[in-house]
Amino acid sequence: MNFDDYKKAVEKLNLYAHHYYVLDNPLTTDEVYDKLYHEVLEYEELNLNKILKNSPTQRVGDIVSEGFIKAPHLTRMWSLEDIFDMQELQKWLIKTYKLDENISFYCEPKYDGASLNLIYENGELVQGITRGDGTMGELITQNVRTIRSIPLTIAHKEKIEIRGEVVIFKEDFETINVERLKKGKAIFANPRNGAAGSLRQLDPSTTASRKLVFLPYGVGENSLPQKLLSEKMEYIYELGFKKPPQRATCKGFEEIEAIYEVMKKERDSYSMMLDGMVIKVNEIAVQIDMGYTVKVPRFAVAYKFPAVEKITTLKEIVLQVGRSGAVTPVAIVEPIDIDGVIVERATLHNFDEIDRKDIRIHDKVIILRSGDVIPKIIQVLVHERDGSQIPYIRPTLCPVCASELLDEGVLLKCQNLACEARVVNSIIYFASKPCLNIDGLGNKIVEVLFHSKLVKSVVDLFDLTLEKLLLLDGFKEKKSQNILNALEQAKGCEYWRFINSLGIEHIGEVASKTLSVNFGSAFIDATKEQIIACDGIGEEMAESILEFVRVNKHTILKLQNILNPKEPLKKVEAKENPFKTKTVVLTGTMSVSRGEIKEILETFGAKVSGSVSKKTDFLIYGEDAGSKYDKAMELGVNCITETEMKEMLL
Ligand code: IVH
Repeated sequence: MNFDDYKKAVEKLNLYAHHYYVLDNPLTTDEVYDKLYHEVLEYEELNLNKILKNSPTQRVGDIVSEGFIKAPHLTRMWSLEDIFDMQELQKWLIKTYKLDENISFYCEPKYDGASLNLIYENGELVQGITRGDGTMGELITQNVRTIRSIPLTIAHKEKIEIRGEVVIFKEDFETINVERLKKGKAIFANPRNGAAGSLRQLDPSTTASRKLVFLPYGVGENSLPQKLLSEKMEYIYELGFKKPPQRATCKGFEEIEAIYEVMKKERDSYSMMLDGMVIKVNEIAVQIDMGYTVKVPRFAVAYKFPAVEKITTLKEIVLQVGRSGAVTPVAIVEPIDIDGVIVERATLHNFDEIDRKDIRIHDKVIILRSGDVIPKIIQVLVHERDGSQIPYIRPTLCPVCASELLDEGVLLKCQNLACEARVVNSIIYFASKPCLNIDGLGNKIVEVLFHSKLVKSVVDLFDLTLEKLLLLDGFKEKKSQNILNALEQAKGCEYWRFINSLGIEHIGEVASKTLSVNFGSAFIDATKEQIIACDGIGEEMAESILEFVRVNKHTILKLQNILNPKEPLKKVEAKENPFKTKTVVLTGTMSVSRGEIKEILETFGAKVSGSVSKKTDFLIYGEDAGSKYDKAMELGVNCITETEMKEMLL
């Protein structure tokens, strides 16, 4: 590799990273990226004086040994006034219109994270500074450089401060906490604490491991010519920063309310946590005129979403026994309205968590409810204790069958295979959506069937008859017949559903599909080597399958006989056609879903890939094809329409 090749490789890596971290639209596979990254690394090791500043290898630097030094912001970092309802919005608008009546507004999410100021000079990131007191913050440039959604170089050469929020995506936050729990570390109470804590790590490699994301929301010192904030923000996104999941320019109360409602409704589906919407006057000249109070700008306001953290009292801790026998503690709290939902139960994760947080019955606790996840206790208000608190004692017996529990430290387990909770929950699981999807077999009905002794295991479900069901309390003809019909319909199900419904430990929907495609009904005879050879299945999973089959072979065969699940289609050699063995990429809107087109192409022996590269043979495009199309054209890939594809297959 010479310097020119090296330079090109760095550019390519940065392009890949931009598509991956900023645009959520990968151009290539991890493997290709890693290979090129290592070539770059090799070159740099031999040419230490030629390393480019924007090389992706330069993101993780040395440990800061003595804490961070302070650094000034070029212009002050402000905070925002909060408003909480329509009336307050009305008032704010009246006040703001008094200052200038010809204004429009730019609305974007209020991210729940840690604020960060980035200073670029000559197109290079030179400083990353925490908010601090608004005029001075801590200089954390080394850590900031590890954040992949922050470009190390930008095409804008004049000095500029770009401000934004550093967040952890909700799903990464969960993963980080699970990891921390495993290592016996205190969990982060919320993504905001997680982001702030991760930014202030002395070792940049710790920050790098936290999957932080930077979301820009404005500029500080700048010489941008745009007259509207919305235009400035578009320019910032163009420079390589991440766009918000939702933004709008609007005029007046109604339009603002409408976009607020959209964000509030959709926020659960966004990757990051939001705690409101920020409304800013869009005209920069007017912003300057309006200026600031001592604390906050007059031209912007944070319209908060209803609180998701509330204080309530822990009434008791009940125990749940799952189908695997795992016993989990659940907090029952004084009912409380959080964001329109009455919360009465909250997860406590496991018994270690109770000990670690020293949670006691009658404690006042803070509960967090963030939309899509189960409410949880995030903090105990120790100073509110009044002497009535009772420490919790770990159970030693199963709350359902009273057999002795196995104490595995974090987890307690009921080992009695016949324990009612285990059996009932495994039947419910068997009938659930990602398994056999049998309508009408909810908790209550399964409990009745179990207590009546009609159903002692899933196999018994298929011996039910109308006569037997009609003898049960509350089972009229229609309800009974519906259950029987639903059971009948489960017959002939897809094979992966059958595997999934068995409830093998560590084997979920994805692994069941993999086993089904690779073995079909022969999965019960597969060897450990064969199982591990499947994509995504590791040793622990393989052992779990083998052990399950060893103990339950007879039941599996019996169920298979009853259910007669469809053998998955064997991969047959495709007949000759223009797409056989070719790599194809799909983009744009087609006449049917892209998934369906993918399936058709795969039966014709094509390999359908997610991103365009030199190896792509065909790009098949529908309406509104975007960057993949441009990329394919650039690389000279054969681009054809869906209709052309169909003609070629005739
Ligand atoms: S604008 C002059 N916009 O909220 C305006 N701030 O409560 C100053 N924040 O310190 C801030 N999302 O860390 C702005 N879209 C957004 C924001 C946002 C989150 C944070 C920011 C600020 C705090 C103020």
